[in-house]
Amino acid sequence: MPKYITHFTFLFFAFVVGTGIWMRIYPFSPSRVPYDHLLHAHSHVAFLGWVFLGLLLIFLKITWTNIKSKKHVHFMIITVIIVTILMFFAYIYQGYDVFSIIMATLHIFVEYWVALFIYLQMKKSRLFSKTASLYIKGALIALVISSIGPFLLGFIAAKGLQDSYLFEMTIYFYLHFQYNGWFLLFLIGLFITIIQSKKIKVNELLMKRAFWLYLISLFPGYLHSVLWVDLGTAATIVSAIGVVGQWIAIICIVYALKGISPAISKHFGKFIKNSILFVLALLVIKHSLELGMIIPGLAGLVYDTRSVVIGYLHFTLLGFVSMFILVQLTMIQILSPSHLAIKGAWIFFLGFLLNEVLLFTQGLTEWLAFSSVPFYLEGLLLAAILLGIGVLYLWISYKNTKIV
Ligand code: HEM
Repeated sequence: MPKYITHFTFLFFAFVVGTGIWMRIYPFSPSRVPYDHLLHAHSHVAFLGWVFLGLLLIFLKITWTNIKSKKHVHFMIITVIIVTILMFFAYIYQGYDVFSIIMATLHIFVEYWVALFIYLQMKKSRLFSKTASLYIKGALIALVISSIGPFLLGFIAAKGLQDSYLFEMTIYFYLHFQYNGWFLLFLIGLFITIIQSKKIKVNELLMKRAFWLYLISLFPGYLHSVLWVDLGTAATIVSAIGVVGQWIAIICIVYALKGISPAISKHFGKFIKNSILFVLALLVIKHSLELGMIIPGLAGLVYDTRSVVIGYLHFTLLGFVSMFILVQLTMIQILSPSHLAIKGAWIFFLGFLLNEVLLFTQGLTEWLAFSSVPFYLEGLLLAAILLGIGVLYLWISYKNTKIV
């Protein structure tokens, strides 16, 4: 596997952290670049750069020796990289405007290309069990569905309705199908493939049932992320059904993986085993928090509190999604559990914890009308710097490794 794909994946992660630190410096020293430009650049490079290429990287590493047309893959990856870099700087420079919208739209077409490539590659390959293919196909469907969001946003913006509920609801539609659909299902599908390659057994029947329950619940589950709009009792009930369905499915997935710990320890070591337990715990906590939000009135309160919304998003994206990508990169030996990498992982973990504790505590103090958390903004900046150091250490550890 060529090393440049991993370097660009880490470069995009560095862009994510870089813009994150920049936004955290903003309250102390605003820069000439408007805040909303940074926010757009940050979230877009996070989803379409770091996570997108990270997931593709894992898939490529697993299938690399079976890929016949390597030239095609290089061309596809280089297109992803160029479009993502242009899009990132377009958002920094002009925010949500003509050039950045063109680049983000181009990215969607590249996503279709990648989705088709993954689908065809998987069909040809024997590396994927029926269960793993199911999750991967579900992920690709969610990816394509999520892409309706940006097209709708363009339409809504053209009608001059940027300030309406519809605009926000469309953003949440996109986010929901991206991280609850595409990211989550693909990560599970890849994980099953990696462990099955080591002949580690999972409860396939339960996994398949959980998949169908999860996929069906994903659709009503969307309504749950827009409960702050008063959609009426029927929509609230449908959203609750979706959330409960997703929660049961997640519990089943974790249950189906019960008993793999000793084999994981044997093949991948204790550090990886504990990291997997941690990311799965984050996944269960995330879905349990969502379940808790069925309580009437709580959803509105949560969505009105910016620190809690950002805390929740990063709990999922930085915690579950990013950490699971890093864990899988280690399992497939792109990263190695060297001294430097483990040090980087711990610093990253500390940054994550500090970020979450501060954001959720701040939310709590707002609800209870207490005074703000002392050194809140300084603490968030420190957390961002720790995350940045963690990512750099992991990247350098890869640079030093002989493994490709
Ligand atoms: C690695 C360290 C990271 C840092 C320091 C960081 C920091 C931030 C900051 C400061 C904000 C703005 C908060 C506000 O305006 O109240 C933000 C928003 C956001 N971040 Fe991150 N972030 C990081 C990683 C990630 C990752 C990995 C993802 C996704 C995979 C992500 C996705 C988002 C999203 C979706 C938003 C909300 C954007 C919006 O409201 O339009 N972040 N982040």
